[in-house]
Amino acid sequence: MSTLAGPVILPADERDLDAVMAVMRQAFDPRYGEAWSALQLGGTMTMASSFARRTEDARGVTTGFTLCRAAGPEVELLLIAVDPGQRRNGLGRLLVETACDDSRHRGASEIFLEVRENNIAARHLYSRSGFFDIGRRGDYYGGSMGERFAAITMRRRLGEHE
Ligand SMILES: CC(C)(COP(=O)(O)OP(=O)(O)OC[C@H]1O[C@@H](n2cnc3c(N)ncnc32)[C@H](O)[C@@H]1OP(=O)(O)O)[C@@H](O)C(=O)NCCC(=O)NCCS
Repeated sequence: MSTLAGPVILPADERDLDAVMAVMRQAFDPRYGEAWSALQLGGTMTMASSFARRTEDARGVTTGFTLCRAAGPEVELLLIAVDPGQRRNGLGRLLVETACDDSRHRGASEIFLEVRENNIAARHLYSRSGFFDIGRRGDYYGGSMGERFAAITMRRRLGEHE
């Protein structure tokens, strides 16, 4: 258990699968089917090109996570989620900034992501964190009532002087 009073952010790997899946199950709105299965998550976490982080509270409980994948000079932020009871406390921003730092340390120059157009919380988080809209892919996501939603592609450059 951490002795720090505030949240800590730690590297995550397949040994953290259960803890990360516990957040996954709580965090994603079931209307959009965006949560990954343990099989999908575990398969990606074990790839050499992927890297993940998790936040932990003072009791050692995992409260949020990110999963990224590197491809040459680009990184894709595949997943980010924060436990619903822990939101608006800066964990999302901490996770994004750490994903950007990790990407930079791996030599990446850009980080990309795709976000559902009506995911207002995530879009605000990303634009407050220096991401810009660079594209739109129509009908990319499906809702449980048959609705379709575009994906907004966002990018942040990882220059030294940001
Ligand atoms: C998106 C998400 C990770 C944000 O986590 P969080 O810990 O609440 O984020 P933070 O507290 O760091 O918020 C940072 C900024 O994001 C924006 N933001 C976060 N939640 C918001 C909301 N519900 N409405 C509007 N803006 C919001 C704000 O600008 C906020 O800054 P502020 O609190 O100073 O105003 C969280 O809502 C989540 O897990 N959502 C479900 C999973 C998901 O959709 N992931 C993205 C797709 S993979």
